[in-house]
Amino acid sequence: MSAISYYEQVTAAADVIRGQSSAKPEIAVILGSGLGDFASSLSEAVSIPYARIPHWPAASVAGHDGRLVIGNVAGRSIAALAGRAHYYEGYDLRTVTFATRVLGVLGVRTLILTNAAGGVNARFKPGSLMVIDDHVNLMGSNPLIGPNDDRFGSRFPDMTAVYSQRLRGIADETARRQGFSLEHGVYAAWHGPSYETPAEIRFLRTAGADAVGMSTVPEAIVARHMGIDVLGISCITNFAAGVLPQPLNHEEVLETARNVRGRFIGLLEGIIGRL
Ligand code: HPA
Repeated sequence: MSAISYYEQVTAAADVIRGQSSAKPEIAVILGSGLGDFASSLSEAVSIPYARIPHWPAASVAGHDGRLVIGNVAGRSIAALAGRAHYYEGYDLRTVTFATRVLGVLGVRTLILTNAAGGVNARFKPGSLMVIDDHVNLMGSNPLIGPNDDRFGSRFPDMTAVYSQRLRGIADETARRQGFSLEHGVYAAWHGPSYETPAEIRFLRTAGADAVGMSTVPEAIVARHMGIDVLGISCITNFAAGVLPQPLNHEEVLETARNVRGRFIGLLEGIIGRL
């Protein structure tokens, strides 16, 4: 069996998806922990399990299922990913960002990245939603490491404005109309899977972070490499380590994400309706 290139793997996956749905979504949403329900709210939906898409990594974390759903929201054709691959699962960052590459090849021009995150900024209450204004990549790696494929993008892509100002404004305006306001801040990507220590959280605060999580940044980098506009929204599910005198646990993260999902899904629908 001859090995095929990463680019060929991406186009092979895109071909299989095109064979399942004739829709041409220009908007995609990657759903974080506890948000998978959004995918079920799409109308005229085609649901494709990741296992049916060649080269696509499985999502194995509790709270993440594994399917790509193409359907309509607010009259727009969108692709929603319920479940994502994480670096801490042992995938390299090229594999973590495989789905983002496929979305780009399918013609997606706007990518909404969502996640659950710990609040490093002690003002942020669990259950609040934070628009990502910028990020700090502390994963110790970068998804663009390795030979550059010019068909995707350039060797040294600019990261001055990863998170589109226009999209951030639309998010704020949508929340305002829905009667609440969004936090804003810097998301630090931590590779995990252990949560941070209180000393690491103090370090992140000094580094300018407002929230910390274990995803999103690799996808955002790859999306920008492909010229895709990015919006990132974090659900602050817990105070970061050391803010409160109690340990962190994944159940708490999932529970807060579940409690907020109605508001989060309403916000996503509202944003998509204004794109
Ligand atoms: N740290 C890292 N990732 C997370 C957290 C956290 O506190 N909460 C949700 N995801």
